[in-house]
Amino acid sequence: MDNIALILAAGEGKRMHSSKPKVAHEMLGRPLVRWAVEAARDAGCSRVVTVLGHGREVVEPLVADTQVVVQEQQKGTGHAVLCARPFLDQTPGNLVVLSGDSPLICPETIRALMAQRESEDAAAVVLTMCPPDPTGYGRVERDSAGQVLGIVEHKDCTPQQLELQECNSGIYCFDAVQLLSHLSGLTANNAQGEYYLTDVIGMFQREGLRVLARCCDDYTEALGVNSRVQLAQATAIMRERTNLAFMEAGVTMLDPNQVYIGPDVSIAPDVELLPQTFLFGTTSIAEGTVVGPQSRLTNCVVGRDCTLDETVAVDARIENGVNCGPRCYLRPGTHLLDNSKVGTHVEIKNSTVGEGSKVPHLSYMGDATLGSGVNVGAGSITCNYDGYSKFPTTIGNGVFVGSDTMLVAPVQVGENAMIGAGSTITKDVPPGALG
Ligand code: UD1
Ligand code: MG
Repeated sequence: MDNIALILAAGEGKRMHSSKPKVAHEMLGRPLVRWAVEAARDAGCSRVVTVLGHGREVVEPLVADTQVVVQEQQKGTGHAVLCARPFLDQTPGNLVVLSGDSPLICPETIRALMAQRESEDAAAVVLTMCPPDPTGYGRVERDSAGQVLGIVEHKDCTPQQLELQECNSGIYCFDAVQLLSHLSGLTANNAQGEYYLTDVIGMFQREGLRVLARCCDDYTEALGVNSRVQLAQATAIMRERTNLAFMEAGVTMLDPNQVYIGPDVSIAPDVELLPQTFLFGTTSIAEGTVVGPQSRLTNCVVGRDCTLDETVAVDARIENGVNCGPRCYLRPGTHLLDNSKVGTHVEIKNSTVGEGSKVPHLSYMGDATLGSGVNVGAGSITCNYDGYSKFPTTIGNGVFVGSDTMLVAPVQVGENAMIGAGSTITKDVPPGALG
């Protein structure tokens, strides 16, 4: 029996006031809709179907690994599921519905919904929550025995219903056959003139089908992101969750409120993260390394016992015992070998700095290969671009480059050569020579 996840992500998200579709907005560097896809997969949903509509050209590449269904006009969450119906099997099994705008849901919770639906043979299990402020959410109505009667949208609530504290999370596990066979019964007779998926719950109940509501222990898991304020709140919750987990695994944070770690980052024990550190993409950091303050690493591989002080790095590889910053910029293709140093106001692009080599102050190395034991004096620059093309610079082992040297590429400096301060090098320097 396949578990299918259906992710509703066609809405515009008017309350974001954005030219970008809501579900493409990012939480800790990952688009909102992507959080839902990953949660569904981690929960064991072998098939993920996403319903897209508004801003589809922007959202589709973000969910390219799912089956995309298009909802041309956004006529409500029930209508969104109806659009997906032709693509879903009418065979018994779990059909989990997730919202593209609820990025905090945990895979374990989705798994628990599926397990409960199966063990209690229910037509639907609704995930509910009791947030401190239920404004905007659909309210769950129960009878005196606690049995779920239905869900009433905020805009359709009577004053009494607005007092209800238990809210619909927009996350459900349905019996696929029951859900798909009841969609045609939905109408749009409500305050918003939309086909509400939530009405299915009342329909099930009236027909005597079993409907259960499972209340989240932690309401934050089900928070929806409908506005920029909620996006900031959700980001803060996920940041805290992530940082707690890393601290429990042995990572030191001087102030965890000032550390931002994306979902695909890995960090070894005994790493120390100082304030205003941002780790994104597939960055990984090995033990004993200190990052920050004021550092941003995206898709970087960092080895053991490094110090990255005020370092901004993108697509860079940093081996062991490397010292960077304060204030250096490592651009894509940078590879810093063991015990090398890239100091203050230094930019490196598409270059290798060899073992124990140093570029300590105010320099630019682009398209360069530095051997081991090289020392580049302050203010030295590889002139790698003539306005049309980029050219390489090669600096051999043990070379000493004097301060304020311009290396006009393409150019090679042989092993153990020495370049006098203030030189402009336009021709190759042989090994051991003085340039
Ligand atoms: C929905 C629920 C509400 C619940 C809340 C939880 C309904 C009718 N209401 O309200 O009970 O408390 O979520 O966050 O379901 N979407 C489509 N196509 C559409 C409309 C929406 O794909 O035609 C998608 C949106 O992109 C979004 C999700 O469905 O990801 C929920 O839609 P949204 O408009 O945010 O519903 P809420 O008003 O938040
Ligand atoms: Mg919503």
